[in-house]
Amino acid sequence: MDIKIEALTASQLKTPDFKNLVFGRTFSNRMFTQKWTHDKGWHDATIGAYGPISLDPSTSVLHYAQEIFEGTKAYRRPDGGVNLFRPWENAARFNNSALRMGMATVDIESHVDAIAQLVRLEQDWVPAAEGGASLYIRPTMIATEAALGVHVSDSFLHYIIVGPTGAYFAGGFKPISVLISDQYVRAVRGGVGAAKTGGNYAASLLAGAEAGKLGYGQVLWLDALERRYVEEVGGSNIAFAYGNHIITPELSGSILPGITRKSVLQLAPDIGYTMSEEKIDVYDLLRDIESGEVTEAFGIGTAAVITPIGRFGYAGKDYTVSNGVAGPVSQHLFKALTDIQYGRVADPYGWTMKV
Ligand SMILES: Cc1ncc(COP(=O)(O)O)c(C=O)c1O
Repeated sequence: MDIKIEALTASQLKTPDFKNLVFGRTFSNRMFTQKWTHDKGWHDATIGAYGPISLDPSTSVLHYAQEIFEGTKAYRRPDGGVNLFRPWENAARFNNSALRMGMATVDIESHVDAIAQLVRLEQDWVPAAEGGASLYIRPTMIATEAALGVHVSDSFLHYIIVGPTGAYFAGGFKPISVLISDQYVRAVRGGVGAAKTGGNYAASLLAGAEAGKLGYGQVLWLDALERRYVEEVGGSNIAFAYGNHIITPELSGSILPGITRKSVLQLAPDIGYTMSEEKIDVYDLLRDIESGEVTEAFGIGTAAVITPIGRFGYAGKDYTVSNGVAGPVSQHLFKALTDIQYGRVADPYGWTMKV
């Protein structure tokens, strides 16, 4: 892709500091931007200094939330190089989100190339692999028409920012606790749950805060129509192990189709498990947790790859899984997937891209 690369001044060139990294708080020196209008299509592709975006107060994204984003990572390889993980899948999901939100789509190869060029320029910002550190990549698109009125924007801004993120499991691979919400829903079939758009996350915030006050780390969402079928947990997909058989909710139209979930579905059978996509009834699930048939539960997503879940709360009662410790299936999947992401083993699937 033809991208204008702007020179940075000495004061814009900060040196990365990888100590005490908190997710989402530190960003590198540069960002990618390009604009879209009806007459010109995508234009002005630039990598320049990271910094504030100036928007008219009437800009449509600020009122009607026509916005999409993505989350992917760059990983430091043992040979010092850098891997992207399935960036084409990520770009395809960005386009699916764009279509659902009535926004302009991007050219997949150009989008991946913009990420690769940005990461190459900012390669000093990719931390060493220890403890699961990586460079988080956040592609975003916002509606930029400066006018009120509920309609599809006539212009968009596409930008990509990157920032180092530290180990997710600084204190070890510890299970989280999850509240199954019987009060709030996240998304409904026919709505925008399968798109990665800000409104889905806005809708989840109050439930997350209330669950936090009750001592739970995340919220598990049930389907919005019957409030009965398991969908996803916080910002990740979910799966349950019955011994060596793993089940994950089938994509219902209101679940975000995770790239990590898709990878686990392909990888699990190759490392000794069977795995199926099913409609998971919460009552059956809680019964199977109580009887001990469910041996493990875990979240699946880019952020922490596999997040073991040790306890569920539902309707005032707690259900412990795997004695509240990380089980062997979670640990095995975590290792198998991160070994590929970080380039510690050969990638038989063609998932990684060296930048
Ligand atoms: C709501 C939601 N579900 C699932 C996922 C997992 O998707 P992925 O594995 O592509 O990160 C994410 C994270 O992107 C998410 O925000």
